[in-house]
Amino acid sequence: MTLERQSLEWLAAALARLEQGLMDLPPFDGELDAEEARRSREILMAIAERMRDNYPYAHPLYAGQMLKPPHPLARAAYQLAQWVNPNNHALDGGRASSAMERECVTALGTLFGMPQALGHLTSGGTLANLEALWVCGRERPGRCIVGSELAHYTHPRISAVLGLEYESVAADSHGCMDISALRTRLERGGVGGIVATLGTTSIGSVDPLDEIIPLARRHGVRVHVDAAYGGYFTLASKLSPLARAAFDAIAQADSIAIDPHKHGLQPYGCGCVLFADPGVGRHYKHDSPYTYFSSAELHLGEITLECSRPGAAAVALRATLELLPLERGGVFAGRLEQCLEAARELQRALEQQTGSWRVLMPPELDILVYAPQADTASTTSRLSRRVFEQAAREGLHLALTRIDARLASARWPDLACDEASVTCLRSALMKPEHAIWLPAILERLERARERAQES
Ligand SMILES: Cc1ncc(COP(=O)(O)O)c(C=O)c1O
Repeated sequence: MTLERQSLEWLAAALARLEQGLMDLPPFDGELDAEEARRSREILMAIAERMRDNYPYAHPLYAGQMLKPPHPLARAAYQLAQWVNPNNHALDGGRASSAMERECVTALGTLFGMPQALGHLTSGGTLANLEALWVCGRERPGRCIVGSELAHYTHPRISAVLGLEYESVAADSHGCMDISALRTRLERGGVGGIVATLGTTSIGSVDPLDEIIPLARRHGVRVHVDAAYGGYFTLASKLSPLARAAFDAIAQADSIAIDPHKHGLQPYGCGCVLFADPGVGRHYKHDSPYTYFSSAELHLGEITLECSRPGAAAVALRATLELLPLERGGVFAGRLEQCLEAARELQRALEQQTGSWRVLMPPELDILVYAPQADTASTTSRLSRRVFEQAAREGLHLALTRIDARLASARWPDLACDEASVTCLRSALMKPEHAIWLPAILERLERARERAQES
């Protein structure tokens, strides 16, 4: 595998353009002295050596966790911004990058039918979700947050940080929030907010947001959509009717978390929170004796819990959105559809090998959960772990996930659930190239399964 280098040429040209804007200043040389430059180079070479100790995330044979390489343009734009190192807290720390951040927020809001949304970039999905739940706690004081048992583990944790009660609602046999369990819980009262996950981390299931919203409204409960992983799939034309209905309901939610550093081709450090009602900005109101003095315009720090934030993240995202706009039928949407297709194709291929594999369920998005065939949960778990290790020896990198015995036995009635959970293999097929690499993936997977069953 070779690494992309075209962007180094764009970066050099763009640096020269950036530098032209500084030529009116008295001469000031940014270069290091010869010895420090020599040592820096030497250290960087040693760091490159150490960085070899990683899985090859950018290669299509990495089909494990949610790890997607940033677009070369995003990488170059992020690096370019490093020569300025803007801080998107107050406008005096990053005027151009704050303007770009607002453009990104409008683009992401528009993606969900909320062009007026108030929002900002965050360091990731956790912070985006935290701010949404924080606002929920302010809007519905003394009430609890509920989310499906498959919601990301961050929700109970951040609720605890915020001093909010958190309760899990059962998931149905498709791994989606069980609407009758939710209804029963809402009728008991005391709920302030529902977290609906559109793309769960472990299995990629989609909560029925279109059913959750009317129920929530009847009980005066806020709805937060955790679309950290799945949000961009609203652009895909080939979702199941249930998923489509859920994605189409996002515009009616109160808040949304989406992670451009997952499917949005950004380097890590790029999440986003959006609020349908810009009025919630009042909860952020605070005074600062040392910021917000350079302009009467909105400083992003005035509507953000974090203070210093990398303007580079906004620059990278803004550049990417220009190259690959968030349009249905566009290039970006087409690449997401290839990911969906890869997951569906892997499902079909595994199911065709009768007696060899079990697939948990048809993939709603691009995550597939599967396991080698066995009679019991404990044997399945042992074999899954062995396949995981054997596949790595074959150069194929997968992930593992634990599926609750209740969901496993709903999906696989013939499986004897002798343990509380079943360890399965999990592949997030987040690279469009996965589609054409499927034969190579399958060949290695099959060999890994055979070896795992022999040992
Ligand atoms: C649905 C969901 N929510 C929240 C998170 C947490 O996001 P982050 O890791 O960016 O903090 C993740 C991460 O995988 C996720 O999949």
